[in-house]
Amino acid sequence: MPFTLQPAIGENFIDREEIVREMVATLTSKNILMGFALVGNRRMGKSSIFREVYSILSEEKRIVPVYFSLWSLLERTVEEFSRSLTFSILEAYKKRLSLKYRLKDLIKVPAQELFDFLRKIDVRIKILEKLEISLSEKGSGKDIPHLLNETFLLPERLAEDTGARCVILLDEFPSVIELTAQNGRMVGEAVIRKIRTIQESYRRTTICISGSIKKTMEMTALSSSSPFYRQFIVKNILPFERDSVRLLLEKNLGVKLSREAIDTALNLTNGIPFYLQFIGRGLIRYKKKNINPKTMKEVFQELLKEEGNLLFSEEFNSLGSRERRVLFEMANNSLSRLNEIARASGESLNVLGRYLEYLMKKGVIVRESRGSYRFVDPVFEAWIKQSVWP
Ligand SMILES: Nc1ncnc2c1ncn2[C@@H]1O[C@H](COP(=O)(O)OP(=O)(O)OP(=O)(O)O)[C@@H](O)[C@H]1O
Ligand SMILES: [Mg+2]
Repeated sequence: MPFTLQPAIGENFIDREEIVREMVATLTSKNILMGFALVGNRRMGKSSIFREVYSILSEEKRIVPVYFSLWSLLERTVEEFSRSLTFSILEAYKKRLSLKYRLKDLIKVPAQELFDFLRKIDVRIKILEKLEISLSEKGSGKDIPHLLNETFLLPERLAEDTGARCVILLDEFPSVIELTAQNGRMVGEAVIRKIRTIQESYRRTTICISGSIKKTMEMTALSSSSPFYRQFIVKNILPFERDSVRLLLEKNLGVKLSREAIDTALNLTNGIPFYLQFIGRGLIRYKKKNINPKTMKEVFQELLKEEGNLLFSEEFNSLGSRERRVLFEMANNSLSRLNEIARASGESLNVLGRYLEYLMKKGVIVRESRGSYRFVDPVFEAWIKQSVWP
């Protein structure tokens, strides 16, 4: 069984039975139109859960699942979002609409050619006409509400037309807030309000969302000031418990591990699935009988040295110099208290408070209790400690 750093699917997907079962049961139930919001730190396995649910729903006759990640957008304009999502929706309905072509290949084709093409193929005419308006260059760019209307009503119309139900899984949803109009204007908030308004009219479509930064998820979807407040069943995606840590490693390594070895893996990774895959990949090189706490620590250190830069330096360097300083002091001296960090980094309490606030917004640290902070990702902390010099 291979270790993977991609979202885990099929046989590679382990644990998470409860949430997958609940999501599938709810999303296939005729009487519930409520979607889910997955909230969890980076690399915790949100996309994997979406992929797994997607794959189970794909087998259901009446359900058309659509998976779409906001991170797949390049320009991050509303036009691009509408266009890409429209394609994903059409792709998902392809079989039911007997579309014979790979629509995704057409995504870069100029609008006019695309409509000529769409006209030729067998999509129900009424829907096609609406789609044409929504994708036409004249219509797009100028009238964002209209564009969003057409995009987000498409799954509902197609569901009515084909007697199906549609489930849209929007991964990295908070990035909606960064969407711009073609002139560069930020329009994210308006987009969110518009999606919410359309969602109110849904009878056959359910939206699920996921996001890694708690703060931005709160802002965009979960807090009482968000238009989506109370519209989702919220699920916190936590690290693996000990049993799942064992299962993942033993299954993929094909070996039974000692209690100490599992504890070591749990300690090093905090049960975050990505790092378990990461350690597993390194351990595969060892003979089975040599896999023990010591080799695990070695592998972890080695990988941190070899791949840590790739994993973390971009994130670290995108921070401001004083934010980096704060993190460096926290990691290097294992500090968590506000006043200790202030002393070590030479910032006043006021200024430091502001930086900590930024770092929380960016999902790097969390406040544990009054005046006490810690890293969200302990491996990021370990990397800073090992690789960053003041
Ligand atoms: N249920 C699982 N079983 C096995 N491996 C998993 C599972 N969930 C996640 N992983 C592994 O953890 C890593 C991260 O998974 P995934 O991309 O799903 O997380 P994520 O929360 O979406 O991360 P990001 O915040 O980076 O988008 C991948 O290497 C994946 O293979
Ligand atoms: Mg993801």
